[in-house]
Amino acid sequence: MTVIITIDGIAASGKSSVASRVASKLKVPYISSGYLYRAVTYLVYVTQTDPADQDAIVAVLQTHPLTLIPRPEENEVWQGEENYTPFLHTTEVDLTVSEIAQHPKVRTWVTEQLKDLPPPFVAEGRDMGTAVFPHARHKFYLIASPRVRAQRRAKERPEDLESIQAALEMRDREDRVQSRPAEDAHVVETSDMTLEQVVEHILKGVYL
Ligand code: C5P
Repeated sequence: MTVIITIDGIAASGKSSVASRVASKLKVPYISSGYLYRAVTYLVYVTQTDPADQDAIVAVLQTHPLTLIPRPEENEVWQGEENYTPFLHTTEVDLTVSEIAQHPKVRTWVTEQLKDLPPPFVAEGRDMGTAVFPHARHKFYLIASPRVRAQRRAKERPEDLESIQAALEMRDREDRVQSRPAEDAHVVETSDMTLEQVVEHILKGVYL
């Protein structure tokens, strides 16, 4: 298989878990674009770069290059010899990542990194099926209610359910510009589905 499959969706819609399982069933790598946006955000924090200054961010990316490694279980992002992966899914990164991801020059940088990767693979994010891989063979877009997504995320974050849901809804608003289904994407409402059911549903679509 030399095709690209895109799985986009809103925050905490289960994209990463679904994409990694679909990829493993198909025996191809999966690629998480969110990891790159998160790594840029962490780099901005570590280097004390102004998060509002996209030129400064792009300059720091030249001096501190980030590498995405699509491991089968989980992606990793390295900055030189340092593994950034353990620092990417924190509440602090959650709070700033949308602001950083809105900068057109940052999006161009991330898009270039992704387009360099050799297919086949499953790519997950917000704009994989629209901006980055518009010619992908199969496109999916996952949605779920804010409550269900907060309940899923509560298993990974220390905060209470209400504040997790409020933070997710805020990120939904901030991500609206870059997160929408491609016209030819298959939208999957996952609120009442288990992870395995979503994976099966997508695999059926891929084998059609
Ligand atoms: O997928 P995840 O929720 O980890 O992504 C973190 C953030 O990175 C998103 O909230 C969004 O702001 C940004 N992002 C994006 N485009 C992508 C993937 C992620 O703007 N393709």
